[in-house]
Amino acid sequence: MSSAEGKGLQFVVRAGGRLQGSFRVPGDKSCSHRSVMFGSLAQGETRVSGFLEGEDSLNTLKAFRDMGVEIEHSAPGELRIQGVGLRGLKAPAGPLDLGNSGTAMRLMAGVLAGQSFDSEMIGDASLSARPMGRVIAPLTQMGAQIAGDENGRPPLKIRGGAPLKGIAYQSPMASAQVKSAVLLAGLYADGETSVTEPAVTRDHTERMLAGFGYEVRRDGLTTSLTGGGELRGTNVVVPSDISSAAFFMVGASIAADSEVTLQQVGMNPTRTGVIDILRLMGADITLSNQSSTGGEPVADITVRSAALRGIEIPESLVSLAIDEFPVLFVAAACAQGRTVLTGAEELRVKESDRIQVMVDALRKLGINAEGTPDGAIIEGGRISGGEVDSHGDHRVAMAFSVAGLVAGGDITINDCANVNTSFPGFCDLARAHGLNVAPV
Ligand code: S3P
Repeated sequence: MSSAEGKGLQFVVRAGGRLQGSFRVPGDKSCSHRSVMFGSLAQGETRVSGFLEGEDSLNTLKAFRDMGVEIEHSAPGELRIQGVGLRGLKAPAGPLDLGNSGTAMRLMAGVLAGQSFDSEMIGDASLSARPMGRVIAPLTQMGAQIAGDENGRPPLKIRGGAPLKGIAYQSPMASAQVKSAVLLAGLYADGETSVTEPAVTRDHTERMLAGFGYEVRRDGLTTSLTGGGELRGTNVVVPSDISSAAFFMVGASIAADSEVTLQQVGMNPTRTGVIDILRLMGADITLSNQSSTGGEPVADITVRSAALRGIEIPESLVSLAIDEFPVLFVAAACAQGRTVLTGAEELRVKESDRIQVMVDALRKLGINAEGTPDGAIIEGGRISGGEVDSHGDHRVAMAFSVAGLVAGGDITINDCANVNTSFPGFCDLARAHGLNVAPV
């Protein structure tokens, strides 16, 4: 694939089209990371199916192999992990490169804080600019020897052999990554570790630890566990990622004559804010085939075209839809009236500053949008064709791909290579179902 000078891999989206079909999107990224981490730290074998073959989760897999874990990857999505136990990891030969993945780096900070060996984690340009103070602070309180650069950013260096003690941590931000880092360090800590969050965040760590036989206690916004136990190998079935499904949910809503069914998508209630928000906007979404795989609820999601209207997004839904705002901004741009988002300052420290990047690009495409410190105000209108920058943010790139369905002209999106971090095969799958997007 070629790419225009300085613009990285570009996607070109031909304007128009409709979405049709019943299909599966790839495995959940959050669950995929955790399946490798917990499978590696368990006693005995863990088999994983539905693992996301994306760069982020593959970097986690490589990191645990680099620490001596035997992981057989015999077929796409299928892993067989020979767990080494909580104390069985070996010192890696060099820095662990987590690429674009904040989840990998922050969760692994908790794990590495409990090891006997020194370690260092590095990442790409985007990850190297993301704040790590949010995990450095609580882990330091627990006794970890961990430091970032002078601004609290990667690389993260962790000194091994520091004894950890349990803490009762009041997290200042609604972040599952922070909660998980502290709980994972808590596995190695003396006594009880608890985390109290300001709002509900995704609870895959809690559910999956329980699946590995580790007792996790939950009381409202507080989660706790006691160090010194063991994880037991198990089978993990990773559901399809609702964050990847969200692109087709919005696409089918905004494009006329569309109907898609997204099969066996993870429906964990801490992740379904996107469905609630789209329904408040008037989307036509129905659920069927509801069941549960390995502690995570799943369902088929059917979405038909609907006239969307602007809303004030309830702040209580923000942490439950935190990764879906790029595509929800596109939904807002296509809605009748004004959409107001507040309480979402976390969007400024994702793979890009998603408030700024989305607002800038929407404005370039003729939409009246304005960023605020903790959200945005978007007036629904007509998206025009044009060229926008994803700033290397996978979800921004896919959000503007979907915008092409209703755009007045073709859209060229710059810097799209990172779509492979979470959604390998996005262009092919989207094209097969009616969105004319291709890398150039
Ligand atoms: C994730 C948590 C979220 C989310 C990220 C994945 C996780 O981050 O944005 O894509 O797997 O724990 P925060 O918890 O920092 O909001």
